[in-house]
Amino acid sequence: MRKLVVGNWKMNGVSADLAEIALIAESATLHDGVDSGLCLPATLIGRAVSHVPAFPIGGQDCHMAATGAHTGCVSATMLADTGAVMTIVGHSERRAAQHESDADVRAKALAARAAGLKSIVCVGETLEERDAGQALNIVLGQLDGSLPDDSDGKWLSVAYEPVWAIGTGRIPEDADVAEMHAAIRAELVSRFGENGAAIRILYGGSMNGDNAAGLMTIPNVDGGLIGGASLTAAKFDPILAAATELRKSKAE
Ligand code: PGA
Repeated sequence: MRKLVVGNWKMNGVSADLAEIALIAESATLHDGVDSGLCLPATLIGRAVSHVPAFPIGGQDCHMAATGAHTGCVSATMLADTGAVMTIVGHSERRAAQHESDADVRAKALAARAAGLKSIVCVGETLEERDAGQALNIVLGQLDGSLPDDSDGKWLSVAYEPVWAIGTGRIPEDADVAEMHAAIRAELVSRFGENGAAIRILYGGSMNGDNAAGLMTIPNVDGGLIGGASLTAAKFDPILAAATELRKSKAE
């Protein structure tokens, strides 16, 4: 399976950052054995698409309705109209701050698909949940409620992002990542059969150029969703390079 490495710029990025986006797009062309892209603030998507037309640009959320009385919201149709090719849905920051439920996330993924966008559906446990021995239950429950019935790898990937690892510099033990990704894979296959085997499962949470190779070597880690380390080409490029190297070493 080709690795997928996507940057999540969160609430960062204005016109002045288009030059950095161009550098990131340029480094992606050097790593063409890896699928990559950047999920940007909605306000920057259209300009980024014009600036780097060959590089996949996405959103970070979408509303589940196509149009309507939803002040301040952006629909999947609008993201697609501005040139986005994908969107993140169900990021833990939105689940927490905007109180998004699994059902909301599922509806958003369906809206994204209807608009022709790929989705990255995020799941992940809090530290309290992990400490209570509930990590697997929580994540598998989120998966169950958030994924549409006929999910497949052509339009959907899953990102496992332990909430306590996001932006903290802390990452789980390899064994914990392996256990979680294996459990997610088993669930995807039991629910979607062959289609579930082809859904990429990304790891997210403090992934960077130093730990990316190790994390992406773990079975069923099919790429990464990267926050802080996606904001500059200098930080993002080593992650793309690590994914490229893994592909080369597999091919040998
Ligand atoms: P981080 O964010 O890489 O800065 O930890 C990841 C994410 O929230 O998607």
